[in-house]
Amino acid sequence: MNVLSPMRRVPASLLIGALALGLAACGGDQPNITDYPNTTFEHRTEFNAALDFLWDRLLLWGTIVFVLVEALLIYTIVKFRRREGGPEPKQVHGNTALEITWTVIPAIILVFIAIPTVRTVFQTQATVRADALQVEAIGHQWWWEFRYPQYPGLVTANELYLPVGRTVNFALVTKDVLHSFWIPRLGGKRDLISNRTNYLWFTPDSAFGEAALNGMCAEYCGDSHANMKFRVFVVAKGDFDSWAQHQMAVAVPHRPADSTASAAPATVGRAMTPSGAPVVLASQAGAVPPAPGAAPYTGWNKPLPAFVVPQTPVPAGLAWSAPAGDAERGKQLYSMSSCIGCHAVRGNPMSVGNIGPDLTHLASRHTLAAGLYPNDTKHLALWIKNARAMKPGSIMPTLGLGEYDPIMKAKVTTGGLSDQQIADLVAYMQSLK
Ligand code: CUA
Repeated sequence: MNVLSPMRRVPASLLIGALALGLAACGGDQPNITDYPNTTFEHRTEFNAALDFLWDRLLLWGTIVFVLVEALLIYTIVKFRRREGGPEPKQVHGNTALEITWTVIPAIILVFIAIPTVRTVFQTQATVRADALQVEAIGHQWWWEFRYPQYPGLVTANELYLPVGRTVNFALVTKDVLHSFWIPRLGGKRDLISNRTNYLWFTPDSAFGEAALNGMCAEYCGDSHANMKFRVFVVAKGDFDSWAQHQMAVAVPHRPADSTASAAPATVGRAMTPSGAPVVLASQAGAVPPAPGAAPYTGWNKPLPAFVVPQTPVPAGLAWSAPAGDAERGKQLYSMSSCIGCHAVRGNPMSVGNIGPDLTHLASRHTLAAGLYPNDTKHLALWIKNARAMKPGSIMPTLGLGEYDPIMKAKVTTGGLSDQQIADLVAYMQSLK
């Protein structure tokens, strides 16, 4: 019987449907960045170009091999299928010529795969050019710390600025478990391995122009692996220099009266005089000052593309009543609280912790909690109130009075912060531009 039975028709129609879908995907316009913001196929660095080239070659050869093998298979199935009343097939044992052929052909195919693969491995592991921008990317459960050793004091979290057209070399280290550094449109994935430094370099090419991009952890690393993201801003060289200058500075005082106190402990970066004018310190020698008369660039200030804006919903049961905060009270509370055991605010001599993210320029960042929430009043307040409800497994303790701590499995009682205290802390944090 040539007609397919109903049971055989199902896989046949599935196959035809899949083929039709596959063919439909081939047509239409070129994919654009808004539809595929994390694509690796539109290469913008020599690193991704090398990987893309290798992928294209392997896909081409793989397709040729697949078509040949499947054609032979189908031909054999049809031509030598069992027929009603047909004779017994000829019995054979072994065929030396055939066996040599099907050993030699795959060996040749493997050579064709190995040569460009090994070449790409060496290309992407080559020594980086000496004038590259150096960035230390440090993985933590579950956030990213970025240090720029050529810019004394420049340390940020979950937000990376890169100058367009300049090669950047990442030194990848982890403070705890394995992570993997990946900016799909620029490069990676490369693992962060305990007791070892891995390197990754690439150049965001000048055709790229300015861009806001997503970065992420690509190696399962625990409860909040999926919440270990970061943002990347590729900006013009001049903007990068003035951003770096701004980030090297100590915390911007939130009131003129505070200027002297904030400037006094500065040992690196740019201090502020009481009038607010920058003082260039000796330790800053070699850093590039902003062009005279140029507006100070404090970070990406253009509208953000939707694909880098966090959409994480606030967990059920968390609410913010939004009392008005006072930055001065917040600073006093912060400087006496356990916050300073984990966080640093350069310019606040009480705050020199190094377990959590450096908060010196927290208000200049676009996201909170490693790219999980937008950095606005509500999300910052809720984060201080109950970080562990906002992000599973967070080592930042639950601080809001009466809040349920999902790790301690108990409500916060004595020592918990009232909404007013949280609002004051938020006001202080938001003064750290
Ligand atoms: Cu870090 Cu997954």
